[in-house]
Amino acid sequence: MFSSRTNWRLTPNRLSREIEELRRKERPLLDLTESNPTRCGFVFDKQGILEALANPQALSYTPDPRGLLPARRAVASYYAERGITLDPGHIFLTTSTSEAYSYVFRLLADPGDTILVPQPSYPLFDFLAGLNDVRVIPYPLIYDQGWQIDLPTLEKRLEARARAILVVHPNNPTKTFVRRRELAELLAFCQRKDMALVADEVFADYSLAVDPQRVFTHATVTEALTFTLSGLSKISALPQMKLAWLVVNGPAQLLRSSLARLEIIADTYLSLSAPLALALPALLETRRTLQPQIRERVASNLQLLDARLAVNQPVSRLGVEGGWYAVLRLPSIRTDEEWAIELARKDGVVVHPGHFFDFSSEGYLVVSLLAERGVFDEGLARILSRVAGSQ
Ligand SMILES: Cc1ncc(COP(=O)(O)O)c(C=O)c1O
Repeated sequence: MFSSRTNWRLTPNRLSREIEELRRKERPLLDLTESNPTRCGFVFDKQGILEALANPQALSYTPDPRGLLPARRAVASYYAERGITLDPGHIFLTTSTSEAYSYVFRLLADPGDTILVPQPSYPLFDFLAGLNDVRVIPYPLIYDQGWQIDLPTLEKRLEARARAILVVHPNNPTKTFVRRRELAELLAFCQRKDMALVADEVFADYSLAVDPQRVFTHATVTEALTFTLSGLSKISALPQMKLAWLVVNGPAQLLRSSLARLEIIADTYLSLSAPLALALPALLETRRTLQPQIRERVASNLQLLDARLAVNQPVSRLGVEGGWYAVLRLPSIRTDEEWAIELARKDGVVVHPGHFFDFSSEGYLVVSLLAERGVFDEGLARILSRVAGSQ
């Protein structure tokens, strides 16, 4: 009856079952995985957001496969503020980065072709690829003071059916930005193997420090066909709005063909609604009050974390360059999942085990830096006392 691409394991894993059970018993939990910005106590301009969605122009239907031009101009202005000039004709609006990924995979790959994705990274890639009949080949990120792309291993994994290299900038959850010298190598691989580069920049506004070694954005890359993805879910902390985009760039001829083909893919769905497209300029503006709140929360939670880890703990944290998460390194006397289950059951603290993000070894837990200060501090105290008591 069903396609093989939907042969997922449908039963919840041990940790999810444990948390479900604790919630059923109404056990109070400190959720250090909370990364839904609409539940973290931030102040949104509620009235402005709702008014933006009630534009009378939305009463007429004027379809545009790329999304309404004023909305694409607003995206171009967002980049222009950072000194980047983009042609609105190179921008496609979508209802999520997930949809943007699907457009790109559909454009580039035949069934069975492969996309190289970083490991560890965003857990949705397997599903996005599988639903588009594409196979994912992980390439490792290695940690030595900071994370970097294991370029020699990546190169070895570029088999004949590889269609694109994907980077997440900064990566989730490792929080590292692509370096300029890494990009130069990735582009050389793309040119040599006729592959495209796909860059997910949803967290790009959340950098903790300026670093000239880093790539600023992939949206201006022209050496290889490049797709840069971003959207409102992180820029304005509005994931419920379901509005993202895709910027296409590259060598002139490839760019022209990509735009023409993408236009047909997008025209087939015309998925972004007019009220939302018309609201985009105002929704993008709300970032000016949201981002400072998020930056403040991330910085203060990191400070709390460092203050607690400073006192000779068996737990350490990995370097963070940006984004909304921190990675904790624990003694590998238990698996990540065992730590996470024990913390939930005995301490009422919910964390992500590293394997959720496909860490290649045990000993990692991932916590959200968006959690409210009191929750974060108390959760952290319980994690540290549990680990100290288990030594
Ligand atoms: C790397 C990355 N890309 C994309 C998204 C989600 O974007 P959207 O809500 O636009 O699909 C997330 C969400 O956490 C993410 O971590």
